[in-house]
Amino acid sequence: MNPQHLMSPNEGPLTDLADLPGPRGLPLVGNLLQIDKPRFHQQLEKWAQEFGPLYKLRLGPQPIVVLSNSEIITQLLKQRPDSFSRTRKLKIVGQEMALDPGLFGSEGDTWRVQRRMVMSGFDPAHVKGYFPSLQMVAQQLAKRWEKAAIHQESIDLQRDLMRYTVDTIAGLAFGVAVNTLSSEEDLIQSHLDRIFPKLFNRLLTIFPYWRYFKLPSDRALDQSIVFIKEAIRGFIQQARQALAEQPELREKPNNLLQAMLLATELESSGVDDALVAGNVMTMLLAGEDTTANTIAWLTYLIWQNPSTLERAKNEIRERISDVKCPTYDELNQLTYLEACILETMRLKPVAPQLPLEALHDTQIGQVRIPKGTLIINLLRSESVDPDRVANAHAFEPQRWEQEGAQLKKISMPFGAGPRMCPGRYLAMTEIKMAMVVLLGQFEITFVGTTNGQEPEEVLSFTMMPKDLVLRLAL
Ligand code: HEM
Repeated sequence: MNPQHLMSPNEGPLTDLADLPGPRGLPLVGNLLQIDKPRFHQQLEKWAQEFGPLYKLRLGPQPIVVLSNSEIITQLLKQRPDSFSRTRKLKIVGQEMALDPGLFGSEGDTWRVQRRMVMSGFDPAHVKGYFPSLQMVAQQLAKRWEKAAIHQESIDLQRDLMRYTVDTIAGLAFGVAVNTLSSEEDLIQSHLDRIFPKLFNRLLTIFPYWRYFKLPSDRALDQSIVFIKEAIRGFIQQARQALAEQPELREKPNNLLQAMLLATELESSGVDDALVAGNVMTMLLAGEDTTANTIAWLTYLIWQNPSTLERAKNEIRERISDVKCPTYDELNQLTYLEACILETMRLKPVAPQLPLEALHDTQIGQVRIPKGTLIINLLRSESVDPDRVANAHAFEPQRWEQEGAQLKKISMPFGAGPRMCPGRYLAMTEIKMAMVVLLGQFEITFVGTTNGQEPEEVLSFTMMPKDLVLRLAL
């Protein structure tokens, strides 16, 4: 389909989903057997090159529309929560895993109430207020890496970064120092790490076998969820105690968890204990992999491009007076580093696809979309399209200095519209802080995979680099 046609809803006759192009499938299973789950996003992007910006496929009985035109994706994302929602299957699979819905999994008015609270918990003023704790978490990361550098040990990059992001989010949103970075034990983050892969796997499994029998991995998941819920109960108890002991917090809560607990006391707020617990889980999940994987991709890409590495390092060493303790304002002056982050997210968005469901009969271009249709939005197709971006597959952060405004229209790693990621400001601050630790305090001696190949992209709800190892010297 020609993209122009897609953008001009009043041209030509209306057509149906059935008329859309798409890969040929088999009876009953449709295109299911052509899907390799960890590479699902790459397969969808490949088909978009072949069949155009709007095509159809079928996974078992489920017809799916795949959209890759950024302008129309933005229009759809803006029509939430009233015209499009997250998918029914996400809701069902989440319920079956005993995950209480938080902001990500809520819709309509329940979503609106939470959105206001979460946005104010993560606004720049709150992130700035939390900055001293972020400095402490960064120092723990530096200590951990210093040990590895002294002993010349390889660092499992993602594992360490996930500890860093869990410690950050628990400190900022719940006021809890979980301090996984200074522990060698498998703590909360190893239980969290089981949830996304299982959730993703079940979303793409047609026969819900787990309703009838459980595999060892399903039983391990159940245990992890019990463990995390117990930890969440502990966080909530601590926050309630702080509210009881320091009445002044009732006027000015210190963090999102305290604000949510205060809201449960107002009958009209629509916030209850289950919603609070659901949001603690949501923030832990949404804030962990996404940010950790982005830092991991950035580290790899920057290492692959020595002149970029040099420039980013120089910027950090020139603008930060004490790399062991950068200030909030200094971090905000790292404009080249920011361009490196944006360029990483253009090439390696950790959420390369965003599925939605149509809540009413609607239309995309001239195509009728019935209520209930699943629409997968591809967030990377255009941002790496050579027709839209010069030298599209190269890592060139300086392009953001020249054409940032244009690029922002097609690269949307945080989504768009009213449900755009509320953690984006925190994520950018966290990423910069981790890079100041890495480039300001260490010399990188190696970033790559153990087999020497380019790291594979593995989709497991978020998209991560496979088997990345980091080696450092002091
Ligand atoms: C580099 C890091 C991150 C990336 C790339 C990212 C990306 C995204 C994307 C693509 C969405 C969906 C947006 C949409 O539907 O339009 C989202 C939603 C969300 N993100 Fe993030 N995210 C990141 C970090 C974080 C952090 C640190 C938090 C903090 C807790 C967070 C919390 C959330 C929540 C709660 C939602 C659901 C918002 C809603 O439905 O209203 N994210 N994120």
